[in-house]
Amino acid sequence: HLDNLDKIVSLSKARGFIFQSSDIYGGLGAVYDYGPLGAELKRNIQQEWWKSMTQLHDNIVGLDAAIFMHPRTWEASGHVEGFNDPMIDDKQSNKRYRADMLIEQHILKLREKGKKDKADEIQHLLDTTGTRKGICEDLYEIIMDEEIRAPESGAFDWTEVRQFNLMFKTHYGATSSGEDDAIYLRPETAQGIFVNYKNVMDTARVQVPFGIAQIGKAFRNEVVARQFVFRMREFEQMEMQYFVEPGTDQDEYEKWLEARLNWHKKMGVRESNLRTSPHPPDKLAHYARAAADIQYKYPIGWQEVEGIHNRTDFDLSRHQEYSGKKMEYYDQQKQERYIPYVIETSVGLDRTTLMILCDAYREEEVDGDTRTVLKMNPKLAPTKIGIFPLIKKDKLQNLAKKIEADLRDEFNVLYDESGSIGKRYRRQDEAGTPFCVTVDFDGVESDGEDTVTIRYRDDMTQDRIPAAKVGDFVRDKMKN
Ligand code: GAP
Repeated sequence: HLDNLDKIVSLSKARGFIFQSSDIYGGLGAVYDYGPLGAELKRNIQQEWWKSMTQLHDNIVGLDAAIFMHPRTWEASGHVEGFNDPMIDDKQSNKRYRADMLIEQHILKLREKGKKDKADEIQHLLDTTGTRKGICEDLYEIIMDEEIRAPESGAFDWTEVRQFNLMFKTHYGATSSGEDDAIYLRPETAQGIFVNYKNVMDTARVQVPFGIAQIGKAFRNEVVARQFVFRMREFEQMEMQYFVEPGTDQDEYEKWLEARLNWHKKMGVRESNLRTSPHPPDKLAHYARAAADIQYKYPIGWQEVEGIHNRTDFDLSRHQEYSGKKMEYYDQQKQERYIPYVIETSVGLDRTTLMILCDAYREEEVDGDTRTVLKMNPKLAPTKIGIFPLIKKDKLQNLAKKIEADLRDEFNVLYDESGSIGKRYRRQDEAGTPFCVTVDFDGVESDGEDTVTIRYRDDMTQDRIPAAKVGDFVRDKMKN
């Protein structure tokens, strides 16, 4: 198990999974770009999610809504008023912190020092501020009473605690830059689904219960963002809103929590690194009746990768109120009208990508050397098959090129003839490539059909198989 993200960050950079944004200008905080391998990995995760939601459910349909939305959307959703984090500045270093996170770190330190009672007492204070009006003052009081110092400068010269809205604001249209034209970058994709709920019902002939799935960018001006792609200011969500009859919501919530946990396991994430964690009632988001995280044991600790929420009829009712448009569903059989309840599954694509990288990462001793290998589900691997002629000789190159050409349409393959065969294997190990095919003289010079060796990433064993059967072989191995 890794104790921090350093190795993942450096492998990501060295192999082209993830780069800091605008690197040549010194980077932009908490914004990242996906390189050639990362873009493939992310796309594969996306495709698995999309398939599991839409193709495998006849009552879940897809949507691709715009990032910009009518500003009233965010008043109705509660984000203008309530999507805030409490922040505090260290006057000495001008560094900004999240007040609640400072306190959490302080509690951890108390626990490390064995001061359990004190830690519990402050934890209780912290847990109960969330529901109180004067949250900023409460947090400020704890910081002052506990004499919590700035982690970096060690100073004790704080500003007051202020609510900081996490939405990015920009201006819409070319003519003026007045407040009236203010528009937000969406902080969650969910609202695009709620405002299209009627459009979808009217066109897709769906009946409650039904779901709408969407993948897209979301933006949050996070106060603290120093955790690689775990907490970003621009990130991607994969969300599904499931519209259900009120009264069936608790069952559906539990069903989806289990279904989503199973999806993560199916992606190959080790079960011992996954758990669910219900939110205590006083910590619920403004729209939720019940909520749980699916957490992964990241190198930075157990953290949320996905949230499952019972959003009740909060969003649809608010949009009905703010837009004046009826959001009711007419149940033909029961001859009843109601606003459906919504069970939401919301998973971060970047956090999932990070989870897959962390879970796959291994360092193994091989012949007195260390091999770094990403043992990820072959379905998610950026490159499926490395194809190598043992050395640069026509006979070998020709067959290797032919295999490459035959497989290219179906698999993401990589032809490589440079460097020793051992180095080529190691490069593919670090990229997570599950299969490597090598063309050698034994395979092309013996009588009968051409053969190749196929080498498996995870245990480095090899089989000799007919050159014409590589596709069948890999397809079969990737089935489950
Ligand atoms: N629509 C519900 C919603 O947005 P959330 O718990 O705020 O709920 C859902 O976010 C998921 O989005 C999280 O579980 C996480 O995976 C991802 N996410 C949220 N903020 C993020 C950030 N700053 N960087 C990366 N991923 C983030």
